[in-house]
Amino acid sequence: ATDQAEAFAPSNIALCKYWGKRQSELNLPVNSSLSISLAHLGTRTQIRPSQTGEDQVVLNGQLLPVESSFACKVISFVDLFRRGRSYPLIVDTRNNIPTAAGLASSASGFAALTQAINQYFQLQLPDAVLSAFARMGSGSASRSIYSGFVEWRMGLQEDGMDSHAYPLDIIWPDLRVGLVKVSTAVKAVDSRSGMKRTVETASLYQSWPAQAAQDLEKIHQALSDGNFSELGAVAEHNAMSMHATMIASWPPLLYWQPDSVVAMQKIWALREAGVEVYFTMDAGPNLKLLFQEKNQALLETEFPGLEVVAPFEASESLNSSTTTVK
Ligand code: DP6
Repeated sequence: ATDQAEAFAPSNIALCKYWGKRQSELNLPVNSSLSISLAHLGTRTQIRPSQTGEDQVVLNGQLLPVESSFACKVISFVDLFRRGRSYPLIVDTRNNIPTAAGLASSASGFAALTQAINQYFQLQLPDAVLSAFARMGSGSASRSIYSGFVEWRMGLQEDGMDSHAYPLDIIWPDLRVGLVKVSTAVKAVDSRSGMKRTVETASLYQSWPAQAAQDLEKIHQALSDGNFSELGAVAEHNAMSMHATMIASWPPLLYWQPDSVVAMQKIWALREAGVEVYFTMDAGPNLKLLFQEKNQALLETEFPGLEVVAPFEASESLNSSTTTVK
């Protein structure tokens, strides 16, 4: 082990969603998914030896009780790599995701933790293996190992080693992701239990794997054609289809708030008026807008407080320690 290791991983937004597991211990998904990483928005994690002989987990500058659910998850993930040996550690995690954006941080969190562990124990694992390990912490974390457009291929093996992400060799400098904050209240049902409930109780879910496979194909086509409207339309349709399976669960899972619907209707009205803007949503009430740079000023006016990310902006080197943490 080295003295100290530090890594940064970006948050990501799925354009074709991961929803449902075929195996829950290893987080093996029912379907492949595709996302865009959010450049400088994400998690920075530092690992150093603990002098007290006990593990310590620090989140955004605050030492957490070891029995808190976040600390337990982090410690049991690190245990996968310690394999019974005694290496008490301090895991110091900082999210620079604006709390107002209401973004999940488990994806960037487990990706940064995996990369920091790789450095700390000098494992020199290739990115594909890091992605498979990050996946065991949280499925969507498999995609946060990479920047830009990323595909997580579901894989077929039982050990899951072929279930990891791949970076796509495509750059869209004018693509923008806008975070619309509807509510930052803690969600009632996290994605892990939400997808379990959907798989177990929604008969509508039976149509999901085929739709996701088809949407993934369409997104690949839109990406290679440079067709923004097709990309946005497929992403929005995919998100709404996922939400339909959630609503069809029992008890029903409705992640939307009244203001989520207000924002959707505003987007549809803008599209009617010729503005190319689409949205996607995850297991929460906030919307993520997809648009091109030319419409940024207009959308900032329409959605006050919109947090805009340029996924392909020349950001500081992802693993330098100079990134400002808000
Ligand atoms: C709706 O990756 O958070 O955001 O694997 O149980 O940790 P676990 O789930 P998680 O689920 C993300 C679900 C989603 C869609 C997506 O990001 O693809």
